Amino acid sequence: MDTKTFTEKYYIDRTKSDTIKWQRGRKLKCLPMWIADMDFKDDERVIEKLREFIETGDYGYGNLPEDYYDVFINWHKKRNNVEYKRDTIRFSKGAVDAMYQVIYSLTEKGDCILINTPLYPPFKASIKQCGRKVVEVSMIDNEGFFTFDYKAIERKFKSGKIKMLMLCSPHNPVGRVFKKGELEELFDLCHKYHVLILSDEVHSDIIMPDQQFIPSLALKKYQNDIISLVAASKSFSLAVFSHCHVIIPNRKLFNRFVAYQQDHHTGSVNVFNALPTYYNYIYGEKWLDSLCNVVFENYQYFYKELSPYFEISNLEGSYLIFVNIGKYNKEKSAAKYLINKCSLLFNEGETFDPKYNNWVRINLATSMKNIRKAVKALKGIVE
Ligand SMILES: Cc1ncc(COP(=O)(O)O)c(C=O)c1O
Repeated sequence: MDTKTFTEKYYIDRTKSDTIKWQRGRKLKCLPMWIADMDFKDDERVIEKLREFIETGDYGYGNLPEDYYDVFINWHKKRNNVEYKRDTIRFSKGAVDAMYQVIYSLTEKGDCILINTPLYPPFKASIKQCGRKVVEVSMIDNEGFFTFDYKAIERKFKSGKIKMLMLCSPHNPVGRVFKKGELEELFDLCHKYHVLILSDEVHSDIIMPDQQFIPSLALKKYQNDIISLVAASKSFSLAVFSHCHVIIPNRKLFNRFVAYQQDHHTGSVNVFNALPTYYNYIYGEKWLDSLCNVVFENYQYFYKELSPYFEISNLEGSYLIFVNIGKYNKEKSAAKYLINKCSLLFNEGETFDPKYNNWVRINLATSMKNIRKAVKALKGIVE
């Protein structure tokens, strides 16, 4: 489906919606292009299936559809050439919830956990909240193309105190889809220094043309070191359902994780919340491919119009871009400046790393009409 038809068919007018994104937009009288959900509704067959479920009126103790695991496993095999095994999969109510559970169950109080910044804020928050220590290594920024600083990472690993690396792949907010070689170099270091890898892959379905996502667990050599978080929540904008898969092939780690879940009486799947994932994996593939084209078209337009003025991250995956408006920012926080000056609501760069206060994260999963509006307003500050 072409991008125009997709937008006509699936764009939702959310101006009155009680979502966090649009409520805050209303309050501040801004066009909301922050927080990571989309302004598009799902394929009509998915909605119809959910309606059918509601209309049965049968809300007794449910079970997952019998082929749930096959549908999940086949989706990831077909799209990313990775073979998840049914008996390595656990559930959590969302990816952030899973971060906490993994940290609590597989590291000890006081352990150090390494992250590559700038980074989606709950990574750091979860480490701190769990009583572990955050070790930050800045990514190297080559004019909007961000990569790992392996030397700095190894220097930190050499302390012997780091027990886990939390990876965001694709990376939020810098939009990288890491190449196989980049992941291998990183994982080799982790293996050498006995550092576990927690790989958050919730953006892995939103991949731009000419890019190939490499799931961490597709690199089989390292699979005993890796815990992957996999969900359809970003792919089809299902955040309200809070449903995530935690995949742990290493049996010892798996058992420790399960024991933690049992101790805390958590980890049982909420069947209703799993259904949108299931139906989207069955009916949503063409929808998703069109969505990726919409995001890419939005990115290309944004980049063409604004790259002469701002540094803009390369978009390889996700629908999020990181933009440096430093040359034109007149306040401490670029995001705050843009709220006041342009009535545009983006995420504050400083929440991803304090030194990025001149940057904003922009959500491109919306209509071209909104993108044009944002571009026009942003041009206002440079002209
Ligand atoms: C990388 C990443 N992980 C996790 C989340 C949140 O996931 P959940 O809502 O399932 O906790 C987000 C949301 O933006 C994200 O970007």
